[in-house]
Amino acid sequence: MASAMLNGAENLTLIRAIAPNPKGLGFHASDFSGKHFPKLTSVSCGKLSMRPMKSRSPITKCSVSAPRPASQPRFIQHKKEAFWFYRFLSIVYDHVINPGHWTEDMRDDALEPADLYTRNLTVVDVGGGTGFTTLGIVKHVDAKNVTILDQSPHQLEKAKQKEPLKDCKIIEGDAEDLPFPTDFVDRYVSAGSIEYWPDPQRGIREAYRVLRLGGKACLIGPVYPTFWLSRFFADVWMLFPTEEEYIDWFQKAGFKDVQLKRIGPKWYRGVRRHGLIMGCSVTGIKPASGDSPLQLGPKAEDVSEPVNPFVFFSRFILGALAATYYVLVPIYMWIKDLITPKGQPI
Ligand SMILES: C[S@@+](CC[C@H](N)C(=O)[O-])C[C@H]1O[C@@H](n2cnc3c(N)ncnc32)[C@H](O)[C@@H]1O
Repeated sequence: MASAMLNGAENLTLIRAIAPNPKGLGFHASDFSGKHFPKLTSVSCGKLSMRPMKSRSPITKCSVSAPRPASQPRFIQHKKEAFWFYRFLSIVYDHVINPGHWTEDMRDDALEPADLYTRNLTVVDVGGGTGFTTLGIVKHVDAKNVTILDQSPHQLEKAKQKEPLKDCKIIEGDAEDLPFPTDFVDRYVSAGSIEYWPDPQRGIREAYRVLRLGGKACLIGPVYPTFWLSRFFADVWMLFPTEEEYIDWFQKAGFKDVQLKRIGPKWYRGVRRHGLIMGCSVTGIKPASGDSPLQLGPKAEDVSEPVNPFVFFSRFILGALAATYYVLVPIYMWIKDLITPKGQPI
């Protein structure tokens, strides 16, 4: 049975299973006391045990989590579209994405449950991109034991230029079909990549397969917004899973002791209604050697198959336009944080 460690006072968002709020309206810090809501013990995906939390930022307001529609356009949640998206984004990735959505302190916070504190651990960083998360990994683990895998040679080119990563193995590959043997590594890390995988359950099943008995997977990814406008742009852009979906995918792949820790930029003051590109860190332990008990059918997408160029181009443009909304959100939150007195909700 999985447990979820929900870091930050917003753990009560999971009460949606008990008190649905279709309007996605926020509620205030006073509600965290549990005065106005029944105590949460379970959600649809399994039981959750709440742990006492240390909060890094003042938590002032949060929203009830919204269910994610099963079918939405999510134009860039495709391998070819994601490839071209990063063909261009890789040029500015480290300068635009990291300061707004994925800061060094968030990264270190998110990697903490991965339990990387032994230098000779072997680690794969899947969807490792420019190596920003890998820089956090090699603080604890010898770089020669770390492999960075990504489907984008343009992103990997940036990783190759980083001095602390010069001893890492850097390879091109697909998260849904990892080029590693079964029972191969001690840690599987993937940050901010699942949102582009056409079949996220398959990627998590691969995480299970490549880990050794007792190995740990740490998957960091977005969380679904509750504010209607943010939900609209999220659904046009890519996959923003709900917290329940992450836990469910891990459990189905066969992981035990599944935990979910919330993360977010400090200046959001815990606000999660716009969703987060890096919103949670989910970990699970492989309890038995060998392949995952989960059987899946054929891959959802085969990159070798031709795509209609018009469909591809339309998806790419619409998805990229929707993504620009999420360049603006952290700036908007940053201004709100500047002008709102400290300790007050934003
Ligand atoms: C938001 S970036 C994250 C990069 C890095 N992990 C970090 O923390 O900055 C997402 C990365 O996932 C990669 N990606 C997307 N789909 C992939 C797939 N199916 N297999 C491998 N990498 C993939 C992209 O090329 C991109 O580099």
